[in-house]
Amino acid sequence: MKTAMNRIGVLTGGGDAPGLNAVIRAVVKSSFNAGIECIGLEDSFDGLIEHGRSRQLTPRDVTGILRLGGTVLGTTNRGNPFAYPIETSDGTRDYSDRVIEMFHQMGLDALVVIGGDGTLAIAHQFCQRGIPLVGVPKTIDNDIVGTTNCFGFDTAVAFATDAIDRLHTTAEAHKRIMVVEVMGRYAGWIALYAGVAGGADAILIPEIPFDLSHVADRLMERDKWGARFSIVVAAEGAFPRGGKLALVEEARDGYVERLGGIGAQLSSALAKLTGKETRSVVLGHLQRGGAPTSFDRVLATRFGGKAVELIRQGEFGMMVAFAPPDIVARRLDEVVGKTKTVPKDLDLLLTAKALGVTFGD
Ligand code: F6P
Repeated sequence: MKTAMNRIGVLTGGGDAPGLNAVIRAVVKSSFNAGIECIGLEDSFDGLIEHGRSRQLTPRDVTGILRLGGTVLGTTNRGNPFAYPIETSDGTRDYSDRVIEMFHQMGLDALVVIGGDGTLAIAHQFCQRGIPLVGVPKTIDNDIVGTTNCFGFDTAVAFATDAIDRLHTTAEAHKRIMVVEVMGRYAGWIALYAGVAGGADAILIPEIPFDLSHVADRLMERDKWGARFSIVVAAEGAFPRGGKLALVEEARDGYVERLGGIGAQLSSALAKLTGKETRSVVLGHLQRGGAPTSFDRVLATRFGGKAVELIRQGEFGMMVAFAPPDIVARRLDEVVGKTKTVPKDLDLLLTAKALGVTFGD
């Protein structure tokens, strides 16, 4: 069903990912060319909670941002409007009422919500409350169900691969074990792809709890045939069989738990088990910064264009998705609240195993 569209809003929520600006640019340009005004909402849903946190975006405003990391609209990964009750003279309300009021006050006809699982879940709730919107999946973790790729992932993998290449030369020179901790939250996509692309000897991912003695045995085997250095890539969410996730910070109100520390733990444990010198490196937020790769720019541009197309067709409550070679629409209610993890029978994982990479199982 087609609806008259005059003005739409666009926002970015959750952790940033390279390619956010490319989506914003595509949304702004394609809506402008279709005669639709585009309003940029700042810092996720805050732009629909506080006055003065939004601005009109024209093609002039998005010129030159295609290649930029970050987001010109700002973002936040706290601030779920459904989680903050406020007292008013009419009683207790949550901020979600305010978002809906502001949406109508601003004369918006629809929203494009660009975000990860958390932001898309919030979007889905607003959709159920009558806000016409389309979601765009974003995360370097690549863990959103229904889409083969999220933009940001390819850039993160490219950065991690380059880092592993650099660590290879120093590892070889010193005959050391280098442990590289990468992001990914509860999914091992970045570790698997960067590990294979960088020629890692061990790849540890949350989907396969590891036994460190198996990893140590594999690394010692390499010594026997003369390769006296090794590279271990560990996803931040990797954990030992029967053990626990390594955390930097527990969850607290409005904030999810922060993963991290497995690299350092593995480094000291492997030093003891192998008797070799080991070092660890945490790639951290470097994986999220900088310019998007050409793949991510193209994907983000296609996502932004498709989101406006869906809005023009009146297809709301959908998420744009990549189903190679096509960009398709998935129902938000079928994708939110789930995590796309690495299947144990994934071709790439089996190929890596066949090449002798250990996953610690
Ligand atoms: O979801 C993207 C991600 O970069 C994860 O890989 C990582 O665990 C988390 O965000 C880090 O979040 P923050 O930016 O809050 O430290």
